[in-house]
Amino acid sequence: MVLETVFPLLKVKDKLLLPIVQGGMGIGISAHRLAGNVARLGAVGTISSVDLRRHHADLMVQTNRSREKEVINAVNLVALDREIRAAKEISCGRGMIAVNVMRAVADYSSYVRQSCESGADAVVVGAGLPLDLPELTSDHPDVALIPILSDARGIALLLKKWMRKNRLPDAIVIESPLHAAGHLGAARLEDVNDANYAFPVVLEATLELFRQLGIERERIPLIAAGGIHSHEQMHTLFALGASAVQLGTPFAVTQEGDAHPNFKQVLADARPEDIVTFMSVAGLPARAVRTPWLVNYLDKEEKLQKKAKARQCTVGFDCLQQCGLRDGIGKAGQFCIDTQLAFALNGDIKRGLFFRGSESLPFGSAIRPVRELIEYFLTGARPVLP
Ligand SMILES: Cc1cc2nc3c(=O)[nH]c(=O)nc-3n(C[C@H](O)[C@H](O)[C@H](O)COP(=O)(O)O)c2cc1C
Repeated sequence: MVLETVFPLLKVKDKLLLPIVQGGMGIGISAHRLAGNVARLGAVGTISSVDLRRHHADLMVQTNRSREKEVINAVNLVALDREIRAAKEISCGRGMIAVNVMRAVADYSSYVRQSCESGADAVVVGAGLPLDLPELTSDHPDVALIPILSDARGIALLLKKWMRKNRLPDAIVIESPLHAAGHLGAARLEDVNDANYAFPVVLEATLELFRQLGIERERIPLIAAGGIHSHEQMHTLFALGASAVQLGTPFAVTQEGDAHPNFKQVLADARPEDIVTFMSVAGLPARAVRTPWLVNYLDKEEKLQKKAKARQCTVGFDCLQQCGLRDGIGKAGQFCIDTQLAFALNGDIKRGLFFRGSESLPFGSAIRPVRELIEYFLTGARPVLP
């Protein structure tokens, strides 16, 4: 291992890894640079597969000319292939390069297939139940399959379905809606703060479920995600049965993070009162920073929801299987998520949507290298900050 750790290593398939997972962050926030540099240190780096053309000027030119769904989807697969290969090169064969695919995305199965074909070590699926993941990846048995779930009920449903197909997940990310960034695994906004999503409750119920289903505890490592911001918390989570932690916001603001510096500063500077939960167009609650666009949108949200009616996708992408704006779903969000997230990626503070977790960051508002972040979580040693 490149770095020392006081924690046991994480075993996924045959790989021994540092027990730190960098969560997938769309759009473009975790691409090859972040994922590659995390993996290079022996941990798990995750590329978010959504709309990666945004990092490739030549591919953007093609989709500026033709705003057709098929063209956008095709160039995004080219971008995903490039990003996976570039991340693997940076990683020098160390750690693991995973690809995060959202179940709620229309082109989900193509992203999963492309990830396997381009050499990803793992496919991580959230924002919906990936019941069909074993079939989709059956030609690539060496690729680790890692679903993201939020409670033992969802885990039970998935395990029972997969076990009928003779497949078990190679790890499970337990992402808590209480503190995580981006889309949250609770059905309604009112459920986001439900105490049943606390790690002690979900980890205990999951380990009990493993016992009931006759699954050895070591067979499926549990990776806790959402609001983890200290070395001490990692000790607590390991004592409860976690085998690794997944961090999103703390990695988004590292020097190697793939977003514009303004993006990192917005996340790093946000105070607790600046962070809100609201309904996304994907029909799930989401957590983000109250930046000018979001304040303005939330002011008008009720009116827009009342007027919701089905229409054509305004950008020709049709990125989501179900979109509150396109499909006129009154209880979901009413904005183009791809457009707003792209503004954020490019550092447009006024117009962007900036996903962020609710907790403070380990190094305050400092933007530091990936290595210092991982070292801090593994050993408790803090860098000397100016
Ligand atoms: C900017 C941003 C974008 C994210 N996008 C995704 C995504 O596309 N898919 C996903 O499964 N999780 C996404 N997440 C969630 C992270 O992968 C991670 O699980 C979560 O942020 C953990 O909580 P934390 O931010 O408090 O560490 C995103 C998080 C952030 C901060």
